[in-house]
Amino acid sequence: MSASHQADLVIVANRLPVDRVVNPDGSVDWRRSPGGLVTAIEPVMRANDGAWIGWAGGTDTDLEPFVEDGLSLIPVALSEKEIEEFYEGFSNGTLWPLYHDVVAKPEFHREWWDSYVTVNRRFAEQAAETAADNAAVWVHDYQMQLVPAMLREMRPDLRIGFFLHIPFPPAELFQQLPWRRQLLEGLLGADVVGFQRPGAAQNFVRLVRQRVGHKTHRDMVYLPDGRSVHAAAFPISIDVQGLEELARSQPVQERAAEIREQLGNPQHVLLGVDRLDYTKGIHARLRGYSELLAEGKISVEDAVFVQVATPSRERVDQYRRLRDDIDRLVGRINGDLGRIGRPAISYLHSSYPREEMAALYQAADIMVVTPLRDGMNLVAKEYVACRYDYDGALVLSEFAGAADELRQAYLINPYDINGMKASILEAMKASPKDRAKRMKAMRKTISEHDVKDWASGFLKVLSETKPLHHKQLRPARRT
Ligand code: ADP
Ligand code: F6P
Repeated sequence: MSASHQADLVIVANRLPVDRVVNPDGSVDWRRSPGGLVTAIEPVMRANDGAWIGWAGGTDTDLEPFVEDGLSLIPVALSEKEIEEFYEGFSNGTLWPLYHDVVAKPEFHREWWDSYVTVNRRFAEQAAETAADNAAVWVHDYQMQLVPAMLREMRPDLRIGFFLHIPFPPAELFQQLPWRRQLLEGLLGADVVGFQRPGAAQNFVRLVRQRVGHKTHRDMVYLPDGRSVHAAAFPISIDVQGLEELARSQPVQERAAEIREQLGNPQHVLLGVDRLDYTKGIHARLRGYSELLAEGKISVEDAVFVQVATPSRERVDQYRRLRDDIDRLVGRINGDLGRIGRPAISYLHSSYPREEMAALYQAADIMVVTPLRDGMNLVAKEYVACRYDYDGALVLSEFAGAADELRQAYLINPYDINGMKASILEAMKASPKDRAKRMKAMRKTISEHDVKDWASGFLKVLSETKPLHHKQLRPARRT
């Protein structure tokens, strides 16, 4: 396979699935990139002979297209200033908090926006160069919202899809953005705009009607140039079968038993797995758990909370502060409530291979997922996929996209700490029969819709879009 061939399927995402890491001795390693986007797109790319355009995580400007582990990857360079302004700035200091219910305060800076435009254009140019005639280009996530319109202008022959992995905010919040119209118009360059939840698609269509003035009907937008844009929910999923096979494998089984052993074989192992992000509700979760210990409802003699927190966006202020806060909180809880050889919280600030993740899921009696807002949350689905034994309980925030499908989880409001504590206790005390009933139902749901169904569903809709709508439109009216 050549890395630079003209491809019939092109993925455009901010990140490549691997990060280039230069070691202190100058040698180079490729490390798997963090996050749900990579988890979801990687199996799709393996099933198709496509090309993946993205950033390799550093400031190298001379990286050539390459093939890594069978995937054809095309690096796009970012300068140090662009990492600050486009990635840490506009993507993660403006859009990320704004799109997650403003759980942190978004910052608006004109230079960040300028950099976002410049970098989006660079990705669009690379996609225009890589795509074969009439190819499908699938653009991903909030970092790339201007790419569809830029690419359409360069290559009108392409079918262009866009999928947003994170929530799309209600009009009341989106309206704060000084560049709201440009972002909507950027997305309207796509033939299909996909979201995690139906409410997000509705927010988008409503905003397009109000702010851009295009005619809309249900999930369709009709543009004056004769094109139509389909906006709908395509809830993302995981490689259910692959994960289950991994969880069933002998080495993972043995490792799961070893993890429990190393934790002192407590009666209850609780687990949290998150990128270290303020949207994930880690602080409230650990506080709630520590209150249960302090109140004597549970004891460190028979329970431990394993919290895996993957390093993320570590140069952004809010993330640095979060890391310090969680470090302090874990230290305080363990100092106040732990005993020798019996910490209240076993805290791991590191990235692990898939096998270790599957072993952790196998080892955990209760998975605790408490985001304040989350597009989907693949961790919740991964836990369910690994519990082929029908054991284990999932405590899940209503504010994660996954809650739409995993209705048999112990659903909680992460802002209601007492409610969360009660649900954790309920899950811990549930009978094996009740747990099995819930787990069986959740497993049925996820196995009926895995990541292959998600991708093929999206690409099928994309391939079926009609180029022109032939509707008579009245002149645009907008607010
Ligand atoms: P997000 O995309 O916001 O990070 P998700 O829950 O949707 O959240 O996806 C996170 C993905 O990253 C999952 O596939 C999960 O298994 C993986 N992951 C999270 N933490 C780690 C870790 N410490 N090591 C390896 N993979 C991790
Ligand atoms: O959708 C979740 C997401 O933001 C992806 O876009 C991203 O790749 C991942 O989380 C990890 O974030 P980052 O690329 O900023 O490390």
